[in-house]
Amino acid sequence: MTEARQEVSLGMPQLPAPAYPAEVRARLEADAKEVIARYPDSRSALLPLLHLVQSEEGYVSRTGMAFCAELLGLTTAEVTAVATFYTMYRRRAGGDYQVGVCTNTLCAVMGGDAIFDRLKEHLGVGNDETTEDGKITLEHIECNAACDFAPVVMVNWEFFDNQTPESATHLVDELIAGRTVEPTRGAPLCSYKETARILAGFPDERPGAVEASGGAGPASLIGLRLAKGEEPHPRVVAPRGESPRGGRPHDPSPSEHLSSHDAPQQTSASDPDHPSGPTAEEGE
Ligand code: FES
Repeated sequence: MTEARQEVSLGMPQLPAPAYPAEVRARLEADAKEVIARYPDSRSALLPLLHLVQSEEGYVSRTGMAFCAELLGLTTAEVTAVATFYTMYRRRAGGDYQVGVCTNTLCAVMGGDAIFDRLKEHLGVGNDETTEDGKITLEHIECNAACDFAPVVMVNWEFFDNQTPESATHLVDELIAGRTVEPTRGAPLCSYKETARILAGFPDERPGAVEASGGAGPASLIGLRLAKGEEPHPRVVAPRGESPRGGRPHDPSPSEHLSSHDAPQQTSASDPDHPSGPTAEEGE
């Protein structure tokens, strides 16, 4: 008697996900193959492919992750690990405009926290939440390397520099009303899905968009101008032990004196007469 043989798959479990409609699948597959062909190793195309599927649904769905895994020969676990690591990939549907308020240290002290609080109240949403009309998703974001223009708000990754609670409120009102708003620099604003397609590596066909992007603002270039000698070189703090005008070392005046935090403190190891440690707390 012959035993029935059963096929056993040792592959990773498949992510349960509905398939794309046939037309969407055909279109995305053609685009994905174009992206993959740019890389010597297909798995290197994962980041742009995640943007591509995000351009379809506005977020990286389970269907999108399964699609990327299939096209790149990866497991869904590998794709999920990448998609959940980077904050530029949304995990659920969001608004047409992703409004990110930088609340990292510099922006926060320059007004980022106040802007974020004002927008939460004005829009009636919390962090990573979307307005009922589906227009705006609000989030607080970490430093966007635009600290020289703090506090910074980004909409679909375009910069709105030197914001205030009032200007940011006006900005979201204009977006909700469907009016055109101009970023402080870079390409004109487009919808979240359109932005995702550009990030996937497809050309931005809008007139003037490519020419407008990439320019650094004056605040970003001050260091470069200083290095080239195109700006006067003011030194506001003299190096320790030098006079402010580069003369001989001198005893620091009371106003230049080192902070007590900079001075070496006596410890039980360095002060054998007091093995239990300093005899008085700082400030006593
Ligand atoms: S701290 Fe906000 S852009 Fe750097």
